[in-house]
Amino acid sequence: MHKANRFRRESMCGIVGFLGKKRKTTFLIDKLNLLEYRGYDSAGYAELSEGKIYYSKKVGRIINLKESINEDSEITCAIAHTRWATHGKVTETNSHPHLSKTEEWAIVHNGIIENYEVLKKNLKFSPKSDTDTAVIAERLEELNINTIEDFIKSFDDVSGSFGLAAICKTKKNTIFLGKRKSPLFISQNKEGDFLIASDPICFKDFGTDYYCFEDNEFAEVNENGLTFYNSNLNIIKKRKARLDSLFKSYGKNGYSTFMMKEIFDESEALKNQVAYYKSQKIFEPLNKEFLESFNKVKLIGCGTAYHASEIGAKYFQKILNIDASAEYASEFIYNEPLLDNNKTLFIFVSQSGETADTLGALKIAKKLNSTCICLTNVMYSSLARLGDIVLPVAAGVEVAVASTKAYTCQLSALYMLASHLGNIKNRRNINYFDEIIKLSDKVLKFDKEQLNKLSSFLKDCNECIFIGKDLDFITAKEASLKLKETTYINSSSYPSGELKHGYLALIEEGTRVFAIACEKKLNIKTINSVKEAAARGADVTILTNDEGLKNEENVIYFSEENEFLLPILSIAPIQYLSCKTSLLKGINPDQPRNLAKSVTVE
Ligand code: F6R
Repeated sequence: MHKANRFRRESMCGIVGFLGKKRKTTFLIDKLNLLEYRGYDSAGYAELSEGKIYYSKKVGRIINLKESINEDSEITCAIAHTRWATHGKVTETNSHPHLSKTEEWAIVHNGIIENYEVLKKNLKFSPKSDTDTAVIAERLEELNINTIEDFIKSFDDVSGSFGLAAICKTKKNTIFLGKRKSPLFISQNKEGDFLIASDPICFKDFGTDYYCFEDNEFAEVNENGLTFYNSNLNIIKKRKARLDSLFKSYGKNGYSTFMMKEIFDESEALKNQVAYYKSQKIFEPLNKEFLESFNKVKLIGCGTAYHASEIGAKYFQKILNIDASAEYASEFIYNEPLLDNNKTLFIFVSQSGETADTLGALKIAKKLNSTCICLTNVMYSSLARLGDIVLPVAAGVEVAVASTKAYTCQLSALYMLASHLGNIKNRRNINYFDEIIKLSDKVLKFDKEQLNKLSSFLKDCNECIFIGKDLDFITAKEASLKLKETTYINSSSYPSGELKHGYLALIEEGTRVFAIACEKKLNIKTINSVKEAAARGADVTILTNDEGLKNEENVIYFSEENEFLLPILSIAPIQYLSCKTSLLKGINPDQPRNLAKSVTVE
């Protein structure tokens, strides 16, 4: 077993911190709210005031924490946290901030201290909380940490990952920060105040630029300013990054949920992506020489991003006639790759760019000396920073846990990439930019009334199945995942030809079947499977570009000739249907139970 597996706990957490002129405490808590989308089950904050640390921690929603704080209270130096428990109970004791025995230190932490049990044995006082973070807080006190240098050195024998912020009651208006593997950022606004966050989204309406901590970098921020250090205690100079203008569009824009808003962003997002690729000449470096540098393509991702990888592999096979395959990142990292050294082009697909499994796989590919393309929606993410070539997904901020617009933009980016290389290889000139622009006008044209009606049946369903062939089978997998995670309906996906090899035994009167039949050559095969299911009483809905079926009841029809682009059109109605059904069932599709937006643990 991989070492890190044994210590999965507090991971997809969120961190914020503030140091500056007096502000309402609720300012910090509102910043914490921007991290809600990551998923969490408790929240807490600690502030330093007149040589004492005051804190509050609450299980459940951030509003519980907010209600525990006097609304007139003000802060000048404070840290706050949302915890998403993977192992270890959801209790106030296990929530952050963690304080040392005499409440000298308080820290918030995102990541996993792998050797915390060893470190704990060397402590005089055993913290009440059974978390790894509590050990670090206690260590700071017992090691008599006084300066930033002491603080940095104390991490020499700490293994694992951390993004953390610490305050100490004897250090007036000072926050110590450190980062290894887990993201951490800091911004200073024009008034000179500092905001710390594990996601730059928190800097929206605060600053215009920010610093991004790299691994093993530390900092001290106090009234005199901000100083960065490396782990050798040298002061380092860092460059600022501009805050992504896309954050300006962050919000529900009148929709009841982020998921619905993000589905309806899709047309615009596809257009924006094309405009960005054109203006930035994204494909220019990917020339003939680049094309000749590989003879195999491996695409890697998790969940929805894995499905995009699978479709991308089909694009490479079909357009470039090249050996291409997709693999789950979580499987790839444990399988010694049998690859033709550096002749394999790797493409890593990740909305967040922080998925631990995908990052783990990227590190393996880099060791093989392979070229690594990273396709991500978050340009300041670890994936974007580690890739040899970064392709932006440019979907805009995606907040809902269930990925929608990022998926359709991933497909469009992969199609453009394969077509661009196909144009070079096949000496042709397909205008993939125009194709996507035309497609973007169709993506939201599905019949909402038809889907609203369908969702009222679906909400009472216990089980359903999605079937398809080839590209349509991959859409069936993604459709099934979307429905499962947002409605908790147990759904499966099968290649349509496989029904008669087993699943047919489960089909009975009223079983819900969705057939994706968008590939002209293969439609007939899937329709045959539909007939087999219907003959056994199944209620079938067909998503198809087959004109012959256009006017049939229970058919969702798409007019699109380019079969490579149909996976974009055929998933959008299912995303909508899932979201609608979720709402009818009283579920919040933005935050399905047990799931987090950014899975930063293996
Ligand atoms: C499903 C979903 C997840 C993610 C997966 C990978 O709707 O969003 O399956 O696709 O956790 O996340 P990223 O793309 O951030 O690497």
